[in-house]
Amino acid sequence: MKIAIMGAMPEEVAPILEKLGTYKTTKYADNEYYEASYKGVDIVVAYSKIGKVFSTLTATTMIQHFNCDKLLFSGVAGGINPSLKIGDLIVATKLSQHDLDITAFGHPMGFVPGGSVFVEADQGLIELSKEVAKELGKTVQEGIIATGDQFVHDEKVKENIVKHFNADALEMEGGSVAVVCKSLNVPFFILRAISDTADTDASFSFDEFMESSAIISAEFIMKMVDKV
Ligand code: ADE
Repeated sequence: MKIAIMGAMPEEVAPILEKLGTYKTTKYADNEYYEASYKGVDIVVAYSKIGKVFSTLTATTMIQHFNCDKLLFSGVAGGINPSLKIGDLIVATKLSQHDLDITAFGHPMGFVPGGSVFVEADQGLIELSKEVAKELGKTVQEGIIATGDQFVHDEKVKENIVKHFNADALEMEGGSVAVVCKSLNVPFFILRAISDTADTDASFSFDEFMESSAIISAEFIMKMVDKV
């Protein structure tokens, strides 16, 4: 078995690379991929760069070129559900693309013919995350994640995303990674720790908490790797 662990930003994968110790760096498709063996499990780590296009490229590369057969994403998100505070973990049950819009033709937001509004994450990996949470005595909330190519920092935009997707958190990569993994039949899991609440102060909160929240998410993901 080979596990892909991805983030979007360097800060999201740095704590993972630290745990791996030594790894082999390979350049491919204008990005770097880090291969290692961790407690007997083959792992490939990469950060994609921000957004749906780069994350699609990286997820596809990890599966098609590096032959990964499970994908775990670790990173940060903007919280929408008021129950989510800075540093809290959210596990995606299903993901959508909140900026995919052909409503002009009578379709629902997030839908294009041949696709679906939501893509569901792997239930086995979600169950594993519950086991890990229990062992660590941590609370991990399950919820819907909405993905789009924008950093949301506006109450109205947030409200609109809740209206269409009933989302609990939002970020910029999960929905596209979900489409790749579903299409290629690779079980996937998206974990995020809250860095901001996508309001007018979001950019300041993000700058302050992104690194600490990224570490919270990465540490949890590595505990999961111990058990996959
Ligand atoms: N990732 C973390 N915070 C975010 C936000 N407010 N909007 C989009 N992606 C994010």
